[in-house]
Amino acid sequence: MVIMLWIFLNFAQVYSMCSMTQHCSQPPYQCDVPQAVSPPIPSFHENFTAPYACPTFLDQEVCCNDDQNSAMNYKFFLIGETFGHSVGGCDICAANIKLMWCHFTCNPLQSQFVSAGEQKYVPNPVSPEQKVLALLVNFTVTNSLACEIYQSCQKCPYVTQVSAMQSPQGFLEFQGYEGIPIGLAWVTFFLSDEPTSLDLQFLPCNTNVTTAYGYPVQPCTCNTCLSQCAASYYVAAPTTLEGLAWPVIGVAYLVIFVFSLIVLFSKRVWKCHQDKKKLEKTHYNSHESNGVSSHLSSY
Ligand SMILES: *[C@@H]1O[C@H](CO)[C@@H](O)[C@H](O)[C@H]1NC(C)=O
Ligand SMILES: *[C@@H]1O[C@H](CO)[C@@H](O)[C@H](O)[C@H]1NC(C)=O
Ligand SMILES: *[C@@H]1O[C@H](CO)[C@@H](O)[C@H](O)[C@H]1NC(C)=O
Repeated sequence: MVIMLWIFLNFAQVYSMCSMTQHCSQPPYQCDVPQAVSPPIPSFHENFTAPYACPTFLDQEVCCNDDQNSAMNYKFFLIGETFGHSVGGCDICAANIKLMWCHFTCNPLQSQFVSAGEQKYVPNPVSPEQKVLALLVNFTVTNSLACEIYQSCQKCPYVTQVSAMQSPQGFLEFQGYEGIPIGLAWVTFFLSDEPTSLDLQFLPCNTNVTTAYGYPVQPCTCNTCLSQCAASYYVAAPTTLEGLAWPVIGVAYLVIFVFSLIVLFSKRVWKCHQDKKKLEKTHYNSHESNGVSSHLSSY
């Protein structure tokens, strides 16, 4: 029993590790370049002076310290001002982005999907002739995470205006690069469905909620959320078509579908038949005109 517990504790320790940290001389604005923690350290309990930037991890062991929590409060304000309703965007999209960065910075299993390397001078995306010192970080997430976060954000004005963000991978890559001046880290995303990749289920942007993961949100409209448009279309339909016999309609559609298949099929058979006839005719003709092609028809 004791041995099993010991194995379990060791096992939990190995997998509950932090790979990155950051300190700020004057949080939340003045921060040092984050650095890799090598070898990784166990997650820890921390008392935050500022409100929890990540209510998801309330009172849990985490990988983010007090400085990082303060800095995240500021960064999340910027995310709201970039993707949220105050700039004609969608709050659920903004909340999903916040949740993803929460896991990046605070998840106690950080070392499984966040790999921090060296600090390097890289072009500042705001003014590329200028160089900034940044930590190079690899962040591995699942394909479904990338897809869901993109779907919830793709109609936000900021996203529609940037051609680089027109795919799930592009959407994440752009943020990982544009975040350099704010996070002092260049985050490269990797999409992989390995069990250690970060996998999150996000709220679709058409969810009717007032809070998401502890962040207050306003519902998104069709102007900022693609699935909201589909929803209003499908929600509107039953109110006008109420009382119709849906099974009958279903069967009718099936019959039409099968019928069109038969028509299509018989057309093809007919055409094939015609072509064959034509071919035979030409063969026959050529056979008549010059007896040479007779052996061709045996092919
Ligand atoms: C956090 O606060 C609790 C209660 O105030 C205290 O017992 C604990 O030692 C503190 N932890 C840290 C890491 O400062
Ligand atoms: C990040 O990924 C690249 C490409 O696979 C690799 O060359 C590099 O060593 C990785 N960096 C870290 C810090 O894991
Ligand atoms: C959203 O939820 C609120 C309260 O639960 C409700 O009053 C409102 O009608 C809902 N809106 C939609 C569009 O379903």
